[in-house]
Amino acid sequence: SQPQPTVFIIFGGTGDLAWRKLAPALYNLYLDGWMPDHFSIIGTGRTKLSDEEFREKLLEGINLFSRSGKAKKEQWETFSKNIYYQVSDLNDSKTYQELGSRIESYETAWNEKADLIYYLAVSPNFFPIIADNIAKKCPEAGLDRTRIVIEKPFGHDLESAKALNKQLQGIFDEKQIYRIDHYLGKETVQNIMAFRFANALLEPIWNRNYIDHVQISVTEQLGVEDRGGYYDGAGAMRDMVQNHILQLLCLIAMEPPINLDADEIRNRRVDVLKSMRRFDADAIRFSAVRGQYGHGWIEGKEVPGYRDEPEVNPESNTETFAAVKFFVDNWRWQDVPFYLRTGKHLSQSASVISIQFKNIPHSIFPPEAAENWQQNRLVFSIQPEMSIRMQMQAKRPGLDMTLNPVDLVFDYSGTYHGKPPEAYETLLLDTMLGDQTLFMRSDQVEAAWDLIMPILHAWESKKSLSFPNYPAGSWGPENAEALIAQDGFHWFTLPLNGKHG
Ligand code: BG6
Repeated sequence: SQPQPTVFIIFGGTGDLAWRKLAPALYNLYLDGWMPDHFSIIGTGRTKLSDEEFREKLLEGINLFSRSGKAKKEQWETFSKNIYYQVSDLNDSKTYQELGSRIESYETAWNEKADLIYYLAVSPNFFPIIADNIAKKCPEAGLDRTRIVIEKPFGHDLESAKALNKQLQGIFDEKQIYRIDHYLGKETVQNIMAFRFANALLEPIWNRNYIDHVQISVTEQLGVEDRGGYYDGAGAMRDMVQNHILQLLCLIAMEPPINLDADEIRNRRVDVLKSMRRFDADAIRFSAVRGQYGHGWIEGKEVPGYRDEPEVNPESNTETFAAVKFFVDNWRWQDVPFYLRTGKHLSQSASVISIQFKNIPHSIFPPEAAENWQQNRLVFSIQPEMSIRMQMQAKRPGLDMTLNPVDLVFDYSGTYHGKPPEAYETLLLDTMLGDQTLFMRSDQVEAAWDLIMPILHAWESKKSLSFPNYPAGSWGPENAEALIAQDGFHWFTLPLNGKHG
């Protein structure tokens, strides 16, 4: 269905997110016919800009980052007529009054009330003041038609996350708060639920009796780039594990929901977080590994170590790599390890979930026939390759019986034409439609913090003496290998050409 008339207000309109993600997403929704007949996009920021200058800036972002390529003149002209800019001072109530009158003027022109979406693409310090002012200064715009969208970090730890939730819930209903975890909007991530719950074949084996262990690996070649200021106060656990990676784990481990209602699905996801085994000091020592990159090489280019990055403390103890072994203590998953790892400036950029099945109970093949034996594995490749692979054993063509692992492959690029929607297209459309399925509810955010706080405390109370402990361009610190090797496994990486050796 098509969204209601909407006014989309972007705080931080001149920032990177608006330029790189939001404008291309809204433009593509427009091209694909998803935008409502009546809509306005108001960007706000401290910089003085005319509407025309703001439009030009967004156009630049669209031309660079849009999935559909460079904007076409005619379409851009009709779309961009709906874009406006307002200089703003977030601490000044006049900003909000002015926004309120703009909104009213659009509604008068359209002769219709609009849904109001406030996108807070600004530092979280401003969330409370913006929320407060929206509620106080724009009453005529109608609080019940208002939604606010926020990006992480949702707090810095459990306590601050609770405080933020409390502040926002003091002003808005939970149904009006859209907390973005952009991983949930990715096409391949949405497909995990479809694949699990639309195929009867998987359910009987999706448990501790058949699954040996699960690996979730989100590795990046990128370093901290120009985000040292933020990242140095966060680190890999807060930046990636608390949100994206634990959400991926929830999608793999959740019980079947009874239907597609947003809260039904979010209940099933939060159940997983609640049943995850808590860490004591011993568990932290044996199940959590941190790393920080030193100087090294990425694709032939020399890069500095983390401590030499702009805006990073030269003695920083912040982790740029984390690997953790988790357990989900429930009937389905008892004693099945879930290994997660993520890091910056690693050898490859790849987000891959590998579900390894138990070995066959008895082999009828002589050892020489099964030299390359590998257990069955189901692999969700989220990016850059978009695929789902089932690794099986098969007979290699020839006169003898030699076995060899082969993949049954569902590859997006070979199956579908065109580029699938970007995560932000899905998430912005869902915001307009009022569907919160792919957004984080307050209890999910808190449950994820609650789970990782003991690790953060342990790490923060003890400086790592070995940092930096992996060179940029490697696969991370050696003890990350040890973490999984001590259980007899190794980290799975997808062969770049999709072929097994
Ligand atoms: C963000 C993190 O949430 O996700 C970044 O703050 C990280 O540090 C990014 O690089 C990864 O997202 P994607 O979509 O590029 O995998």
